[in-house]
Amino acid sequence: MEPAVSSAGAIERMDPGHAAYLLGGAGDEITLRANQQAWQDLRLWPRTLHSLAGSHARIDLHGRTWPTPLLVAPMAHQMLAHPHGEQGTALAAASQGVGLVLSCQASQPLESVAGAVRADAQRGPLWFQLYLQPRPEDTLTLVRRAEAAGFEALVLTIDAPVQGVRDRELRTGFSLPPHLSAVNLAPPPAEPLDALLARAPTHDDIAWLRRHTRLPLLLKGVLHPADAAAAVALGIDGLIVSNHGGRTLDTTVATAHALPAVVRAVAGAVPVLVDGGIRRGTDVIKALALGASAVLVGRPVLAGLAEDGAMGVARVLRRLRDEFVAAQALCGCRSPAEAAGLDLLRPD
Ligand code: GLV
Repeated sequence: MEPAVSSAGAIERMDPGHAAYLLGGAGDEITLRANQQAWQDLRLWPRTLHSLAGSHARIDLHGRTWPTPLLVAPMAHQMLAHPHGEQGTALAAASQGVGLVLSCQASQPLESVAGAVRADAQRGPLWFQLYLQPRPEDTLTLVRRAEAAGFEALVLTIDAPVQGVRDRELRTGFSLPPHLSAVNLAPPPAEPLDALLARAPTHDDIAWLRRHTRLPLLLKGVLHPADAAAAVALGIDGLIVSNHGGRTLDTTVATAHALPAVVRAVAGAVPVLVDGGIRRGTDVIKALALGASAVLVGRPVLAGLAEDGAMGVARVLRRLRDEFVAAQALCGCRSPAEAAGLDLLRPD
């Protein structure tokens, strides 16, 4: 059977530069492959003779209940994949009870994306991802716009102070077509490398942002347990274990391997989510068994968007959700929250 999501098809018919940007990774793409492989290599150890009466896929996060433990990862410039862009992705995710993390580098206004799904009672979480902008006032403008538009949490990406070196993208000479841009951002100044490095996010920046928003603040791009513990001490509301889908530093630890130590370091203080290489419902139950509260899915969504716009994304997410529901039941597990307590992974 085909994986729930394969990148064959539309994406291969796309402009090679666009495909390289949307699907490629850094360097030799070792991390990109390792993320998927790490989930595949974990062996489920299912339980039997447990009652499955009352099973459901709901999760609780930040005081609210959501339909599934799935969110769409923040991904830039989605109109490269299809004219439906981020709005198409948002509508499709909402239709499947899947959350959305909108990239600050979206190709459509954040207000119109939020407006398309905000009132839907069946949708998942609606979160906004951001990078610290070169000027603090621009970061605060983004935060205020996200709050006013109805986003329910902020996700600050901290693992990309400089862009990864993406060989596949460089080989194609990718650049954004003139009709697309990161419409929510002030045009970036041309910054020399030392200026970029000097403003790489620090603990002080997190404390500053924490003081300037009433929304829950999650950090995305944490791999090391010591960084996770320090972030919790700063008062953040959640962590996303991520290596940026293998797009920044190649040969990093796979997220499935980084997750357990981060979960131990956080010790239940805040939810821990994970992304990178999630392709199957079995990957999702494995992440939950390792202590994740929810997972984010990236490239499969772009493949669905490129294939058939919002309908393509809805099909991808429905299949992943259905696979997860089956995997959860076949593991003898009644709910996402139960997965971490059932000893569902065979120790090597
Ligand atoms: C942006 O965060 C990217 O990975 O392209």
